[in-house]
Amino acid sequence: MSKKVLVTGGAGYIGSHTIVELSKAGYKPVILDDFRNSDESVLKGLRGIIGRDIELLKGDVSNTALIQSYLRKEAVCGIIHFAANKAVGESVEKPLLYYQNNVEGLVSILKAASEEQNIPFVFSSSCTVYGEPKGQKEVSEQTAKTIPTSPYGFTKWLGEQIIEDLFHSNNQLRLMSLRYFNPIGAHESALIGELPIGKPNNLLPFITQTAAGIHEKLKIFGADYPTVDGTCVRDYIHVVDLAEAHVKALEFLLKQQSGCHEVVNIGTGKGSSVLEVVHAFEKVNNMALNYEFAPNRPGDVIEIYANVDYAEALLGWQAKRSINDAVRDAWRWEQSIRAKE
Ligand SMILES: NC(=O)c1ccc[n+]([C@@H]2O[C@H](COP(=O)([O-])OP(=O)(O)OC[C@H]3O[C@@H](n4cnc5c(N)ncnc54)[C@H](O)[C@@H]3O)[C@@H](O)[C@H]2O)c1
Repeated sequence: MSKKVLVTGGAGYIGSHTIVELSKAGYKPVILDDFRNSDESVLKGLRGIIGRDIELLKGDVSNTALIQSYLRKEAVCGIIHFAANKAVGESVEKPLLYYQNNVEGLVSILKAASEEQNIPFVFSSSCTVYGEPKGQKEVSEQTAKTIPTSPYGFTKWLGEQIIEDLFHSNNQLRLMSLRYFNPIGAHESALIGELPIGKPNNLLPFITQTAAGIHEKLKIFGADYPTVDGTCVRDYIHVVDLAEAHVKALEFLLKQQSGCHEVVNIGTGKGSSVLEVVHAFEKVNNMALNYEFAPNRPGDVIEIYANVDYAEALLGWQAKRSINDAVRDAWRWEQSIRAKE
């Protein structure tokens, strides 16, 4: 069997860590990316970890013909589809950009994957499909989905539905939607990590950039929520654990004799508040962080974390790394970026 895995968005944050884990597991990942939200320097970092160059197919995932011609030439045993725009706030300002890239990109790759051969397919979904879960903080795959309020969130909700509809049309396809919770951290080598272009949208890059002196203060939005310390609670998962989940997902699909569309939560099963992450960062890295409280942001989910029983049962996967590991690795990565400047 071919060991080639086509990874769209493989130069990005989660994609690059998945390239490493696929390589470690004996696969030959191929990056399909046009670097619209990443930098080609990631290839050097990957070479440093893996010890060889990773094949690159430079292009837009919406270019179905490009993917079809690649799949006709090369035997590919799996596709992992990360390529998308991911900033919630930006999606409210530029909804068409999000519908075009996230929806058109998904349709394009699915068309190529399902028409050329029946190639196992893993989709990057998100816990955003749960919205603000009513009366419960721990969500399982059975928890009702809510139509997300942001165009970004809606592209993930719709993405799952598109995959489900495709499966109904052809129940021999092998498909999996992984609902990520909140990825943080970086590879322990500090050779790859999250490289936010412009102002970061996620908590950890904001923390590390504040620690590096790029921002004067970290703003924590909301201090009076009904949570352990008044700040929002999320399920923060180390990006390398998340990357390992993709290898397990692919292996599961490769073993299937008949079609499936599985939907699986990928988190740690534990919630941590924003302040807990800030304090973990301070303690592990032995430094004080300048932060202040800012007004609540409308639309922010107050508290959510994953029930991960299904991931354990179906994939034999569970997160192994802690918040402390993640904040240590994120800070090492931030320092390595600054050292190159
Ligand atoms: N990071 C998170 O917090 C998070 C949480 C839940 C889900 N997700 C999803 O996981 C996936 C990966 O997220 P990430 O954090 O690694 O994002 P990222 O922006 O770091 O990586 C995405 C990669 O896709 C590429 N890309 C985007 N559109 C493309 C296109 N049309 N053609 C080719 N390449 C394209 C970008 O250049 C980038 O390298 C996304 O689908 C995102 O929505 C991310």
